[in-house]
Amino acid sequence: MPSIGILGAGYVGLATAAGFAARGFKVVCADIDEKKINVLQMGELPFFEEGMKEVFLASSIPVIFTTDLSLACSCDIVFCCVGTPMSIDGSADLSYVFSAATTCAEVNQRALFVIKSTTPPGTAKRVSGIIDGKLRIASNPEFLREGQAVADALKPSRIIIGADDTSIQSELSELYSDVKVPILCTDTVTAELIKYASNSFLATKISFINEIDNLCHTIGANILDVAKGMGLDDRIGAKFLQPGPGYGGGCFPKDVSALQFLGSSIGVPMKILSATSMVNVQRQTLSFNRLVEFFGVDLAGKTIAIWGLAFKPNTDDFRDSPSISLINSCIKAGASITAYDPMVRGESTKRAFGGQVFKRALSAISAIDGADALVIMTDWPEFEKYSIADVKKYLRTSCVVDLRHVLK
Ligand code: UDX
Repeated sequence: MPSIGILGAGYVGLATAAGFAARGFKVVCADIDEKKINVLQMGELPFFEEGMKEVFLASSIPVIFTTDLSLACSCDIVFCCVGTPMSIDGSADLSYVFSAATTCAEVNQRALFVIKSTTPPGTAKRVSGIIDGKLRIASNPEFLREGQAVADALKPSRIIIGADDTSIQSELSELYSDVKVPILCTDTVTAELIKYASNSFLATKISFINEIDNLCHTIGANILDVAKGMGLDDRIGAKFLQPGPGYGGGCFPKDVSALQFLGSSIGVPMKILSATSMVNVQRQTLSFNRLVEFFGVDLAGKTIAIWGLAFKPNTDDFRDSPSISLINSCIKAGASITAYDPMVRGESTKRAFGGQVFKRALSAISAIDGADALVIMTDWPEFEKYSIADVKKYLRTSCVVDLRHVLK
């Protein structure tokens, strides 16, 4: 069995490590972030992810977590799982990928360097140029969802293998031969585009239903029935048709932006994606606008309760969460905030909200008790047990903004 090196201990790196460890591979996972590696070495995770800790604890060959990148690069197959954050111009910042490949080429030129990070089409070829072809390179994008990352790593919907050489395609297909899901082998540029096109399509589906929801609000139609009625057509499908305050998280916003950037930079403007982003940006202001419709622009002296800070349930991640812009807008308008989220921790929110101070409630009910309005930002299952009438009993007004349609 080949040894597996993982560069980057973020969501992608750790889910990939967990997937291979559970399948009995020797895994070395490296990251330059000492704090993160210390946490992992102590048997904990740097974030919450259902079932991941248990996989690491149960693996027959313990995963080695290290800050020594060369240890991971010395493995037979090295998965590049570093971040590709959004640059100021909207493009994907590939500096971490280039640096990981350079390190691997210096340490071990026999390794197969597999890019799992989400990288724009053409990146694998660029990487090969940067390291003068010293490594064999493949693209093997991940499709894991936060909150289900371990299950997705063990049984993904499909495995996409991009390599410009059939022997590399065979080597990677062999690596996944025990995972009984469809495997599609293609060239690197196509594999890279499959990832971007998939995320962009899902984001577009969300913006589409959110735009239909805007229409429903004005003409008095029932969005949930519209979505249900559409979803019953299996050509459309019911998934990703839930209206909400806009998509967030570490993937959709940056991936849609990077594909738009790529298209416009090569003279192929992505018009649908421009609309997808625009609808999403407007949608993220909608909860605040609903408050303004009710109270007027001056929210001084008002207490706004917020249920949910995470960008979706079952995670403590609030990167690009629509709750960030809501909180900032409310505070700017003079309101006080009392927020409740079952999983997002206090310390991390302080950094993300630019030091904005807002009160954290210990329960959903204590957040709304005596507040002027409630805004629901995350569809945590624990909110589903309440009806609109229930929550209104605790509020000083009848203002409830529930774009996720969580309340009964
Ligand atoms: C996404 C992709 O689903 C995954 O395949 C990819 O590889 C990584 O990016 P993730 O970011 O974990 O996964 O979240 P996802 O479940 O896709 O949700 C993204 C956002 O869309 C969330 O903010 C969610 O609330 C929102 N969403 C999702 C909706 O508003 N409506 C829906 O119907 C579905």
